[in-house]
Amino acid sequence: MSMDSAQAPHPAPHAHAGEGALPSSTAPHAVVELRGVRRVYYKPDGSVLVEALRGVDLSIPKGQYVAIMGSSGSGKSTMMNILGCLDRPTKGQYFVDGENVSTMSDEALSAFRGRKIGFIFQAFNLIPELTVAENVEVPLFYQGVAPAQRHARAVEALGMVGLSERLWHRPSELSGGQQQRCAIARALVTNPVVLMADEPTGNLDSATGRSVLRLFARLHEQGKTIIVVTHDPFVASLCQRVVRLRDGEIEYDRLQTPERLPEEAATPA
Ligand SMILES: Nc1ncnc2c1ncn2[C@@H]1O[C@H](COP(=O)(O)OP(=O)(O)OP(=O)(O)O)[C@@H](O)[C@H]1O
Ligand SMILES: [Mg+2]
Repeated sequence: MSMDSAQAPHPAPHAHAGEGALPSSTAPHAVVELRGVRRVYYKPDGSVLVEALRGVDLSIPKGQYVAIMGSSGSGKSTMMNILGCLDRPTKGQYFVDGENVSTMSDEALSAFRGRKIGFIFQAFNLIPELTVAENVEVPLFYQGVAPAQRHARAVEALGMVGLSERLWHRPSELSGGQQQRCAIARALVTNPVVLMADEPTGNLDSATGRSVLRLFARLHEQGKTIIVVTHDPFVASLCQRVVRLRDGEIEYDRLQTPERLPEEAATPA
């Protein structure tokens, strides 16, 4: 297996180039890194219900486009929720952008998540009462960004996903693919270090799914680190790396040459 570059041990957090530190050119900066991560779900009586992750080590360098695969119940969403700082490991450590997330308070973690992570949910999770632009402004609102700047950044992010014409619409007035692109704009608006998506095309027809995948490919070309959970071998074939889970453990982890998506069809999503 050619995993050396993908799984090279990450230097100590906050290591700077200089005495004792590897030069940055040979030490790829891991954007996310799990070390010995376990996640146990307990029954109300405190006994173990299921060990959903059983000691996972994973290091993802900046700019990598990664698919997480595995059969139903293998632990993908559990892992993604930890990667997205929506949940914490029962044991082990988790680093994002060199910072140890495992030891942060809930409040610090939630602020950190808002700055560093763009999370795209399968069910979009847009707020129906808000316009498209307002939905995209929400993460900036929580960061205390001033209204005019918030709006300008939302408009820019919506432009990136091809929704400039839909700023004042409600989510219910959008197609499934447009709603997903709005959710992607919301994830991008904070300029996160990593974009994560759990089954991003799971609720979309195949043409619409392709337009979302084309958007991911473009973001990847621009240097974004992207992690997608998918059941779909086609989605995984577009990624540079495939990590497959089985019963809460990494069954395999391999680098590959990504397939290229065919050119855009005439009808947009
Ligand atoms: N909140 C929870 N409480 C108890 N057990 C859970 C909880 N969430 C997940 N599990 C269990 O943990 C294991 C892994 O679940 P997880 O949702 O991570 O699987 P998955 O790989 O995402 O599956 P799918 O492809 O069906 O989405 C399963 O056995 C599941 O039943
Ligand atoms: Mg899941």
